[in-house]
Amino acid sequence: MGINILGMGRYLPEQTLTNDDFTRFVETNDEWIRTRTGITERRMAGWEPTWYMGTQAALKAIEAAGIAPKDIGLVISCTATPDFHTPSMASIIQNNTGAVNAGAFDLNAACTGFVYALDTARRFLETDNDMKYILVVANEALSRFLDFTDRSSCILFGDGAAAAVVEKSDKLYSSVLRSDGSGAGYLCARTLDVAPEVAVESDFEDPFPAMAQHKLYQNGKEVYKFAVNALPKSFELAAEKIGITSADIDWFVPHQANVRIIETAAKKLGVPMDKFIVTLDHYGNTSSVSIPLALFEAIENGTISRGQKLALIGFGAGLTYGGIILEY
Ligand code: UT7
Repeated sequence: MGINILGMGRYLPEQTLTNDDFTRFVETNDEWIRTRTGITERRMAGWEPTWYMGTQAALKAIEAAGIAPKDIGLVISCTATPDFHTPSMASIIQNNTGAVNAGAFDLNAACTGFVYALDTARRFLETDNDMKYILVVANEALSRFLDFTDRSSCILFGDGAAAAVVEKSDKLYSSVLRSDGSGAGYLCARTLDVAPEVAVESDFEDPFPAMAQHKLYQNGKEVYKFAVNALPKSFELAAEKIGITSADIDWFVPHQANVRIIETAAKKLGVPMDKFIVTLDHYGNTSSVSIPLALFEAIENGTISRGQKLALIGFGAGLTYGGIILEY
């Protein structure tokens, strides 16, 4: 069983930060950021909370889908940057959108969040005949936990939201969800305080660097090495399940972290770059939002059309990775 993406929506924060703006906080320059990452600007949430951006994207997706909010059976929000530990962003969005008959929960698979959430939605649709539509919302305010003194990480990320309404269908579908937690310490930020003097009695090694407190810590080189393998591997694992190859795919919609990662993965897959949707130049790395945001844009501008086969591929903190192959 597959899914049909009925409608999508997005929300972009009002504030834009260019590469030049970062020279006010850290020693950097536009040329370094552009050539090493492909990013020229990104949106930054100002007054907008995560749930607000998610709600706006969700309302647009519901309108585009042409459905009644009361017919939504479940709201899944993926985010690594919720405004609250509890309640979930999904519960707030469920209320704001009038999805009065829906369940709601958040899911955190970092930058692979949308892939995990969409695949979770499909599984609910498959096993619950009463469930007609599911609203999947990716929403992130990464700027609120960036370390603006760390030039190697703060220039990479951006904020925003994107959402999709899905229903079950018999269209082509395959997925794979994976995690390699041995790299958990390479990309992390703490939520609760852990007093340094508290010795944790555990049989497990603590992989988290001391500097990874409440701001985002990233070992860029290790994450890069992981990403250039995770992207092709996710596609190949999902493709193998249904006996197709990269030649059968019309568009690859990868997580938008760094254009060099996409270029390297494209080479490994033997797929030309013009089959990859790339939008990171204007938005940076928006974590779980990046795949649905790129998908939304490509649908809006007519690049992706109905009936085409897509590969949505994510990778990120966890270290999580995964892919979905579907017919749009
Ligand atoms: O969604 C989560 C997934 N995250 C990712 O996919 C991120 C993966 N990692 C990367 O994309 C890259 O590793 C970075 C973009 C983070 C870094 O690029 P790099 O080509 O690996 O640079 P580097 O870390 O090797 O640094 C090269 C130099 C260093 O200077 P020295 O030691 O050679 O003098 C850095 O200090 O560039 C310096 N540098 C900068 N210079 C100007 C690091 N950041 C900056 C900066 N501006 N913003």
